[in-house]
Amino acid sequence: MKKLVVIKDVSKIYNPGENEVRALNHVSLTIGEREFVAIIGQSGSGKSTLMNMLGCLDTPTSGKYYLHGHDVSHMTDDEQSDIRNKEIGFIFQGFNLIQSLTALENVELPLIYRGVGKKERDRLANAALNSVGLEKRKTHKPNEMSGGQQQRVAIARAIAQAPPILLADEPTGNLDSASSREIMKIIKRLYSEGRTVIIITHDPGIAKQAKRIITISDGMIQSDIINPDYKED
Ligand SMILES: Nc1ncnc2c1ncn2[C@@H]1O[C@H](COP(=O)(O)OP(=O)(O)OP(=O)(O)O)[C@@H](O)[C@H]1O
Ligand SMILES: [Mg+2]
Repeated sequence: MKKLVVIKDVSKIYNPGENEVRALNHVSLTIGEREFVAIIGQSGSGKSTLMNMLGCLDTPTSGKYYLHGHDVSHMTDDEQSDIRNKEIGFIFQGFNLIQSLTALENVELPLIYRGVGKKERDRLANAALNSVGLEKRKTHKPNEMSGGQQQRVAIARAIAQAPPILLADEPTGNLDSASSREIMKIIKRLYSEGRTVIIITHDPGIAKQAKRIITISDGMIQSDIINPDYKED
């Protein structure tokens, strides 16, 4: 298996000095291409800090992070944002859609930022929305859609340019159980199509749907197991 994420002895300290918080404490972790991983831990355990690190949204205080062989720990903000755009699709708990834009426009927006031309943008955004079953909702705005539909728009936005990694932070945290199942089904399909999926969650019901489960506690990895109950759909 090819290595995609290599984290070596990473620590993250907030407020160095008297009131310092060691949010990640000497974490080492390797994730290969085409893995399906859940990272689970209680509130304050360091999940979001780790997600920000994995997503190149923050740099470690010490230690190294290599993403696809690139040393992210010493990159400038611009270099980080380049690698983020190329490698990672983000899915957030709160969907993070722009309320004044339609579903299609929301999916197109990051493509505009990346300089994709109008015709290609249209093609990619339409294909992504179709792939999450929203062909009939393209001109709807977020407040005209259910939570599950909004999260599907967010997934379409994340996958439009086919990044190899999907990084999801509590993707079902704001959804009822039927919508959660629907979203997890889509996420599993995206994994089976060849993407690497990393889900951050505090919910054991979500974590046990992944193939590998990493438990984090007090900024340290407590366990890292292959899920014996994993089921292909
Ligand atoms: N910007 C910050 N400044 C200072 N301390 C922080 C900051 N961000 C997080 N922390 C602290 O770092 C630790 C880990 O926080 P983190 O947000 O990673 O936890 P989490 O597992 O995502 O929690 P939750 O499930 O509540 O979202 C906590 O003790 C938190 O208080
Ligand atoms: Mg968090």
